Amino acid sequence: MKFYITTPIYYVNSEPHIGSAYTTIIADIIARYKRLMGYEVFFLTGTDEHGQKVYQAAQQAGKEPKEFCDELAEKFKSLWKELEITNDHFVRTTDDYHVRTVQIFVEKMIENGDVYKGVYKGWYCIPCETYWNEDEVIRDGSSVLCPECKRPVKWLEEENYFFRLSKYRDALLKHYEEHPDFVEPDFRKNEMLKILEGGLKDLSITRTTFKWGVPLPRDPSHVIYVWVDALINYVSAIGYGWDEETFKKWWPANVHLIGKEINRFHSIVWPAMLMSVGLPLPEKVFAHGWLTVNGQKISKSLGNAIDPRYFVNKYGNDVVRYYLVREISFGKDGDFSEEKLVGRLNSDLANDYGNLLHRATAMVQKYFNGSLPRPSEGEGIDNWLKERYFQTKDEYLKLMDSYKLTEALEKLWLFIADVNKYFNDTQPWVLAKENKMDRLGTVLYNTLETILKVAIMTSPVMPDTSEKVFGRLSFDAKPSLEHLEEWGVLKPGSAVKHGEPLFQKVEVQNLKKVVETVIVEENTITIDEFSKVDLRVAKVVEAERIPNSRKLIRLVVDLGSEKRQIVAGIAEHYTPEELVGKNIIVVANLKPAKLMGYESRGMLLAAKHGETLRLLTVDGDIAPGAKIS
Ligand code: MSP
Repeated sequence: MKFYITTPIYYVNSEPHIGSAYTTIIADIIARYKRLMGYEVFFLTGTDEHGQKVYQAAQQAGKEPKEFCDELAEKFKSLWKELEITNDHFVRTTDDYHVRTVQIFVEKMIENGDVYKGVYKGWYCIPCETYWNEDEVIRDGSSVLCPECKRPVKWLEEENYFFRLSKYRDALLKHYEEHPDFVEPDFRKNEMLKILEGGLKDLSITRTTFKWGVPLPRDPSHVIYVWVDALINYVSAIGYGWDEETFKKWWPANVHLIGKEINRFHSIVWPAMLMSVGLPLPEKVFAHGWLTVNGQKISKSLGNAIDPRYFVNKYGNDVVRYYLVREISFGKDGDFSEEKLVGRLNSDLANDYGNLLHRATAMVQKYFNGSLPRPSEGEGIDNWLKERYFQTKDEYLKLMDSYKLTEALEKLWLFIADVNKYFNDTQPWVLAKENKMDRLGTVLYNTLETILKVAIMTSPVMPDTSEKVFGRLSFDAKPSLEHLEEWGVLKPGSAVKHGEPLFQKVEVQNLKKVVETVIVEENTITIDEFSKVDLRVAKVVEAERIPNSRKLIRLVVDLGSEKRQIVAGIAEHYTPEELVGKNIIVVANLKPAKLMGYESRGMLLAAKHGETLRLLTVDGDIAPGAKIS
């Protein structure tokens, strides 16, 4: 039995954050679960490195795009290592085998008559790398915004190759009908059905106005559209076009795990591309919700990115993983809250789970010399516990199999509450006092056997904790479904080790602002970074309006050692006469720029509030050129 699971490949325009880690962690949990169930698993993740967005980020960093991608790809890889992600491969779209497969794939689409040349006229959102029609963009005054990320879009007019996406509408609808679970959750599928029912437009699949992409072999002045390039990773990484045997083994994927904002690409564009080249479609696309902070999607460009390492270092991997699955209802959006994380740690993990193990192992140590007692014939309450276990196990497996991860943990913790009830109701401390050692041994055995079951079932979510529990219970087999199916896996007489509690409780006070603090820290700069900006006092010696411009004024400023021309958009707020003689503040080391044909060597500083704009000046007289620090 094989299981092939993928995450989206992440753009390398910025470092990974807890949002990207969320998808990867969930995929890791599913991959580990499937391995536990006996599947041979291929778990793929990677980086999406072509396209305008990444190219611009490289330029801003002053690096060659490949060098920039190499650095960022390493950052993703090392974070996944720290988070103990068990991916089997890491695909990069700049990898040679991927580039060749993209070319083979697209050439095949062309050979099959699904591609034609045309002119694209429309909008393009660089942050989303997405084309938008006139009726899709948002107009806000004079700005035209992306309906997805609400950032400005650019107008494009290019000769492109187009994919006949429209041709596949009926076949896609049929596929959705015949495979009702193709896209999950249901409400996400319905969004896709609405798009399909509204009809599909052909998709521009090449670009000519920039070069950072995979060239189209038959017409290399075109590079392949970054989304087409990226989607093909799901087949390039497993050998399509270069290792047919491996490819046959793994394709079709069992699940593409993605965030909801890229569902259309995965549930409409990608299946149509696969139909075009004659490949079977993936079994399922699962589109989960977003992690938010104060209701906003976490993302670098919104300035609210949180580094998962902060929480992992503070609480440990397992706690973060447990929190993400248990608290953020899988499939829906959920707000990231450190307070809630600590709440789960203290109650679910420390109290309900860790403390139960702690109490049971303490008693085995004290009354049985650390050797697991042999259970005797059970009583009613023992049978109840076993029944509750088997019922929970069945529910848990069913929920995990249908990707209802949050509910699976909910069910498991209801069971843990029942194990605690069993432990309390059987009153082992009274049994000890009354010297009913046989009965005490049975209760402790049953308690520890259920804890073993819990540790096996939670091992995909909390692998390190489960390892610890296995160690305490001297369970050294490779955990598997068989161990869940039978009762009495623990061997009487084996060593039971009592040790530190599994989880340490944390005080809840002073946590409220922590998420904000992390974000603020991410947005802070060092004194060294600040000192790169050369701020100077400058005296305005000349000023005139630039002809035919409503906003621009040309200034000549005295910087002590030199005079400079600066062009500033302040004509609606100051007359040239008002400016002459003022001591203003300028950024002296800004790269020169040309505005309406006039060179500007520096930038003046001004404060803006609504419609009001006021220049920054100094408090009293000081020599022109004085440095500001
Ligand atoms: N490169 C494309 C995907 C190509 S797949 C063929 C892309 N990359 S991305 O870097 O923007 O990552 C998108 C994915 O990261 C989302 O689909 C989602 O899985 C994950 N997330 C990014 N921010 C997230 C949240 N705030 N919350 C949850 N998941 C988030 O799109």
